[in-house]
Amino acid sequence: MTTSNHDTIVVLDYGSQYSQLIARRVREANVFCELFSWSTPAETILALKPRGFILSGGPNSVYDHGAPTLPDYVLASGLPVLGICYGMQLLAHGRGGRVASSLKREYGPATLQINEPDNPLFKDWRLESDAEPNSQQVWMSHGDKVEHLPPGFRPLAHTDNSPFAAAADVDRRYYAVQFHPEVVHTPQGRLVLSNFVHHVCGCASDWTPANFIEEQVTAVREQVGNGRVVLGLSGGVDSAVAAALIHKAIGSQLVCIFVDHGLLRQGEAAQVVATFQREQGMKLVAVNAVEEYLESLAGITDPEQKRRIIGEKFVRIFEREANKLGKIDFLAQGTIYPDVIESAGKDKKDAHVIKTHHNVGGLPEDMDFELVEPLRLLFKDEVRQIGTALGLPDSLVWRQPFPGPGLAIRCLGEITWERLERLRLADDIFVSELRQANMLRQDTQQSFAVLLPVKSVGVMGDGRTYQEVIALRAVTTEDFMTADWARLPYDLLARVSLSSAAPLARGERVVLDITSKPPATIEWE
Ligand code: XMP
Repeated sequence: MTTSNHDTIVVLDYGSQYSQLIARRVREANVFCELFSWSTPAETILALKPRGFILSGGPNSVYDHGAPTLPDYVLASGLPVLGICYGMQLLAHGRGGRVASSLKREYGPATLQINEPDNPLFKDWRLESDAEPNSQQVWMSHGDKVEHLPPGFRPLAHTDNSPFAAAADVDRRYYAVQFHPEVVHTPQGRLVLSNFVHHVCGCASDWTPANFIEEQVTAVREQVGNGRVVLGLSGGVDSAVAAALIHKAIGSQLVCIFVDHGLLRQGEAAQVVATFQREQGMKLVAVNAVEEYLESLAGITDPEQKRRIIGEKFVRIFEREANKLGKIDFLAQGTIYPDVIESAGKDKKDAHVIKTHHNVGGLPEDMDFELVEPLRLLFKDEVRQIGTALGLPDSLVWRQPFPGPGLAIRCLGEITWERLERLRLADDIFVSELRQANMLRQDTQQSFAVLLPVKSVGVMGDGRTYQEVIALRAVTTEDFMTADWARLPYDLLARVSLSSAAPLARGERVVLDITSKPPATIEWE
């Protein structure tokens, strides 16, 4: 459990794929917010002294046998409540309204007509159309809907299909919306959430990067005292920001260990050393473990086996190097909030394991250290803000995510240094073109090359070539759970394909991956 001195909103998760997004939107409104399963014990939630509750959507019908319920403490607390979609139906059902069961889903955009524009929920809505001043696009995704409002509630807005698209019991501060304010397809949805937390719950806007850094610097100093801290730096955003924050707090009591496993992208290892050792002035132990990794990966082609070997090896090398440092009291990690939420939900009887996501910076499980995890309350976008505020370069803070096992899972088939080098070169050509076109932030969220263990015939000059194929993968995604292939400009692709073949002078065939997730995953292994 985490505690905070900030005004706090609790989001109860009823299984919607958007639950995390609700919490992020509240944080974007500078209000601290935490996400918990609806079945979390009341004591845990009430200990946070929340200022209000948001009930997420979910896949159930309130009439389903064993459907998730509204815990008694929520209404008993007398605090404001906002129910979204299933959350609205729960709230209505719980207060004596009637929910109509329906087999037909409404999914997609709808036009919201606001009956009560002065309600705090709609404060500062920029009304888009002069012709229809009180209408706005919202996103619907529901089967059931509220048919009769409970006593005390009145409708605030409607759509053609939902007479109660928004409703409230204003005296009790219970609000409910059938649409999804958290998704980008509801253009003013953020404002609904911001209005609820500020103007209904009365929360202060005190969740800011500057406050966060100041609080964490104090907290880390208190936790660590005169002790020494070791941190595994992977070159990724999370461990980098954790290192910078802890360094600000305790300076040379922090030692970073960076293991170069040879599976990083072009120039990456050098950049990590330059940034942290030279620019940030941190104590950094850089370990060249390339040979060791290549030896243990020789002949391995199975993706899961690659992941296991890389993960285990990291733990062993990290331990070995940490032991050389003398007495160390703490292990610091770049654990972030989605990791915390995910591990809290681990005991759910989950679906199939598609692939195990090992993080090479991950925790050596049997190491006897106390943990320092200053980012464990932050979402990724917040981690980036903190990184920027701490003075880390954009090239590091805005790096696209890179899997822990690195190029090993993009070098399909056997891993050799020669194949890794070819992949690195192709990847660098592709990513450099995207960087030049400024397409590595908004336009693509993950972009990389993959080397396939499949040969194809080509012709260069007068000669025949027979080389492995390079695939280009670029995706757009909000959360990496689903993704679409990025529609890249043909001219850019043409430049990549030409220069991919030329400097290698080997005549690799270049193909473009146009599969979305699902059915494919983002990585090829
Ligand atoms: P998939 O391929 O499952 O990837 O669609 C979703 C996101 O997770 C990253 N990924 C990993 N990250 N260790 C990691 O730290 C792993 O083993 C791993 N496998 C995939 C992937 O790059 C994408 O961002």
